Amino acid sequence: MEQRRINDFSVYPIGLGCMGLSAFYGPPTERAEAVKLLHNAIERGVNHFDTAEMYGMGANEKLLGEAFADRRDKVRIATKFGPKFLFDESGKPAGTTIDGTPENMRRAVENSLAYLQTDIIDLYYLHRVDPEVPIEETVGAMGELVREGKVRALGLSEASPETIRRAHATHPISAVQSEYSIFSRDIEAGVLPALDEIGATLVAYSPLGRGLLTGALTRDNKPGGEGEYRQAAMQPRFADGAYEANLALVEEVGAVAANHDAAPGQIALAWVLGRGKNIVAIPGTTKLRNLDSNLGAADIALTADEIARLEALADRVQGARYNESGMAAVNR
Ligand code: ATR
Repeated sequence: MEQRRINDFSVYPIGLGCMGLSAFYGPPTERAEAVKLLHNAIERGVNHFDTAEMYGMGANEKLLGEAFADRRDKVRIATKFGPKFLFDESGKPAGTTIDGTPENMRRAVENSLAYLQTDIIDLYYLHRVDPEVPIEETVGAMGELVREGKVRALGLSEASPETIRRAHATHPISAVQSEYSIFSRDIEAGVLPALDEIGATLVAYSPLGRGLLTGALTRDNKPGGEGEYRQAAMQPRFADGAYEANLALVEEVGAVAANHDAAPGQIALAWVLGRGKNIVAIPGTTKLRNLDSNLGAADIALTADEIARLEALADRVQGARYNESGMAAVNR
């Protein structure tokens, strides 16, 4: 598959979401194994790696820094700021708050550059829009980082069409990252047209529905346990009842996959990439075999009938994509 563009650089349409290597999907992957996966991804043509300061409180950026130190020219690194870590009186981590102030950005970018062992971040995102800080103020400060040579291009994550337009009027926005999959199509009405208008790229995260769309999750193989955020309290699509109903929808993705002798997850990725040339996907995986399967999606072309069948599923998905506080952090 041809490379696609973010800003003035080209990236392979299937990048790697690195979060799960350090956080939210159970215990972190053992370091040597994680570095090996990142190196294998480069060898297979992946050149867009997505991380954030908040993934493992810097651990994920440090992992990428270590893995890419001797091959920095082969990768585009995207990272994000916005969440600020809170600590209780005894100094223990106590969650995060969104802070889009220039001061928090300065604090975060210096950490990210150090953790990533690099002089320049290819794509720097505001991870979540801070309702207390005008977007012009945040993006104005981010633009200074571009002028100082610390950042190549700017992005927003989970921003509304209006925020995207206002931000772009302050400094060019090269990419917007949002959840986008067969199961989560809410950005089609406003965000995608706004991106077409300003000439930016959509970076689709959770294109596999956090694993649901791969077919690897079953009634008996339900995610849970320590460090795993796919639980009812955080992810309503994984709540009892909703989970089983959503798995039934994946069977329909499986039926389309059978036409192509493919896996459901490959169909999920092929659908996302087929939605527009200005879309790239960043499926997350910690396993080489799954990475290889995901990369295989690049060769799949869906028919109009198959697309229609897949697009009928989103309205039947049960559960919001985040819990209430997670949805409140999505700028709409
Ligand atoms: P996120 O953006 O949160 O990373 P995602 O990309 O939609 O979400 O899905 C990531 C999940 O899908 C992970 O749990 C990942 O598990 P592994 O680390 O075990 O791979 C899972 N996943 C990714 N690719 C997969 C594949 N080809 N087959 C099965 N599971 C896969």
